[in-house]
Amino acid sequence: MTHPALEPEIRPATPADEADISMVIATAFGDEAEARLVDELRSCGALVLEQVAVDRDGRVVGHIAFSRVTGSGAGHRLAISCLAPISVSPDRQRGGIGSALIRAGIAALREGGEDLVLVLGHPGYYPRFGFDPELAKKVAGPYAGPAFQALALSEAARAALPIEVTFATPFEAFE
Ligand SMILES: CC(C)(COP(=O)(O)OP(=O)(O)OC[C@H]1O[C@@H](n2cnc3c(N)ncnc32)[C@H](O)[C@@H]1OP(=O)(O)O)[C@@H](O)C(=O)NCCC(=O)NCCS
Repeated sequence: MTHPALEPEIRPATPADEADISMVIATAFGDEAEARLVDELRSCGALVLEQVAVDRDGRVVGHIAFSRVTGSGAGHRLAISCLAPISVSPDRQRGGIGSALIRAGIAALREGGEDLVLVLGHPGYYPRFGFDPELAKKVAGPYAGPAFQALALSEAARAALPIEVTFATPFEAFE
């Protein structure tokens, strides 16, 4: 009888992980575009947090990236980031790895003093982590609609809303 792998370890990504990360992203999305986006975010210094899920054999099976978002007006003083993209290897999806990456990422951001986290994602998935499409209506930017969701991690964020935001440059070219 085979035993299921232990819950993957979640740790910060290192330069040695980059090829594995690209592979996980490309296989999860079935396309190279999101892996290129992560490379560009990384090389322009826009990544706030990048973590991987590694199974007990040392294989990277999941990845999450958060990049810097700039607020204007009252949002100028807030630390704002955007969750994108998140990927789990197709053979390991629906096993809780994505949820573990999101929870660990939010915890690390909270610990680091982040005020607000944004995501453009499925409205059926992200609210379980506290993301709220209603709150995101107070965040003006290029993405609007039910997929655009926000999670306030500080009172300062709630007090500053409504605000306007700009995403890292590589998102402009991303379709
Ligand atoms: C989205 C993704 C990261 C989730 O990771 P995961 O490890 O499979 O997710 P978990 O096991 O933690 O959670 C599974 C839950 O997420 C839900 N879920 C996963 N992907 C979803 C999606 N695209 N839309 C709606 N719900 C989704 C499942 O229905 C399941 O819900 P349940 O617990 O109510 O059954 C993974 O499916 C993936 O890599 N998908 C391809 C890339 C992608 O679409 N990324 C998101 C956009 S940036």
